[in-house]
Amino acid sequence: MIIEDFTNVTAEHSPVLSLTRNLHGEAATLAFAASLAPLLTSGGLIFLQGTLGAGKTAFSRGLIQALGHQGAVKSPTYTLVEDYLLDSLHIYHFDLYRLGDPEELEFMGIRDYIDGDALCLVEWPDKGHGVLPPADLIIDLDDLGDSRQIYLTAASARANSWLQQLQSRDSSLQPVEDTLQLAGQVRTGAQP
Ligand SMILES: Nc1ncnc2c1ncn2[C@@H]1O[C@H](COP(=O)(O)OP(=O)(O)OP(=O)(O)O)[C@@H](O)[C@H]1O
Ligand SMILES: [Mg+2]
Repeated sequence: MIIEDFTNVTAEHSPVLSLTRNLHGEAATLAFAASLAPLLTSGGLIFLQGTLGAGKTAFSRGLIQALGHQGAVKSPTYTLVEDYLLDSLHIYHFDLYRLGDPEELEFMGIRDYIDGDALCLVEWPDKGHGVLPPADLIIDLDDLGDSRQIYLTAASARANSWLQQLQSRDSSLQPVEDTLQLAGQVRTGAQP
């Protein structure tokens, strides 16, 4: 099953929880990202998927600023990674769009960044397929013009807990029906 390549879900915490809601306007993206922030202070690996301009960097900005960063959040399109140290939390914000080969991640020591304690946000994770470890949370943004549909799929036990907490606070979040298909094919940019 394709989902096994991308997640560390095990039988003990399946089924996978997947939630969706609409976000109307960039301010809604920033506010929703901020609502997730308090759950992520122990770190984790988050994949951000969606077409060019879908709002991956906007979402990251909302999250990073809600965690206490005062300045601008630059897109890491050219630098590959931007890092932040907020209190004792390290945040690494990756954009792999320009990565030529996933092996380049090995050369940059990707596993030292993704050590479990840091919060790692990865735009275009499919470019690192085969080298990136499985995500905790997979976020997909669909560009609907004036709004974005966001999908959040838990891929680890701790992400399941994050989503349960979010769901209890945000009545706009709806469960996604065909979660396995979403997580295994659409949401991960899976390669055969
Ligand atoms: N909920 C929303 N509704 C409408 N527009 C939004 C929403 N959220 C973000 N946007 C807009 O979408 C654009 C998102 O740009 P952003 O750079 O975040 O995209 P991206 O997914 O990171 O793109 P790239 O793949 O090039 O890195 C911005 O113009 C932003 O204002
Ligand atoms: Mg971006």
